Amino acid sequence: MRKPVMAGNWKMYKTPAETAAFFEKFRPLAGQAEHCEVVICPPFTNLAAAVEAAQGTRIRIGAQNIGWAKEGAFTGEISGPMIVASGATYAIVGHSERRQYFAETDETVLKRTQAALEFGLTPIVCVGERLEEFESGHTEAVLVRQFQQGIAGLSERQFARIAIAYEPVWAIGTGKTATPEIAAGAHRAIRAQARAKFGKEAGEAIRILYGGSVKPDNTRSLMAQPEIDGVLVGGASLDAVSFASIVNF
Ligand code: 13P
Repeated sequence: MRKPVMAGNWKMYKTPAETAAFFEKFRPLAGQAEHCEVVICPPFTNLAAAVEAAQGTRIRIGAQNIGWAKEGAFTGEISGPMIVASGATYAIVGHSERRQYFAETDETVLKRTQAALEFGLTPIVCVGERLEEFESGHTEAVLVRQFQQGIAGLSERQFARIAIAYEPVWAIGTGKTATPEIAAGAHRAIRAQARAKFGKEAGEAIRILYGGSVKPDNTRSLMAQPEIDGVLVGGASLDAVSFASIVNF
């Protein structure tokens, strides 16, 4: 059985004070959830505040990116040891907004994923096709390329420690959710890659989350798909009541 991961990606929202206020409300609603892992990924500057606010709960904290080097002359980057020192335990890697606006490639996504693993963080590796790729029927080809040029570079032991998030770019922040069937189809394609590269058992065990306009009212139908092992939520994770109702689908 794959335990679901219900993760919130706050993107570039909230100050440390707003983070503390969120947790005040969220803790009693979802702080002790046992049916899933709850992960919240605030901006780097709020990691410490989030870790502190989550103490005594089952909520885990994650970064939204991770530098590939341990330290060095990399202005603007944050390294694995820095994230670990904040108390966070997860890191999102390769989000489509990083790929689109900050020139992230399959190669840098792999390097960042390996760094997260090296420093003991759980990477949530994002893949997904753009609108024109979806409309021209290239979803599977894009997923195969992202898998082959990124994730396939991991060792079997490394692969066993990651989660993957399928986020169709056309569904992010647009209110257009992929139907549960479309999402499940994409998840099957990713799992087939995983099985072929890392073996049947690893393919069965890998958790694949769906992301893109996940809201309280569509979570249940997405989670009803056996292929969908959790969600990565943007906008709807910013409000404590809304994200709690997603967690408690
Ligand atoms: P929205 O839930 O706002 O569509 O964002 C999805 C996302 O990008 C999560 O990483």
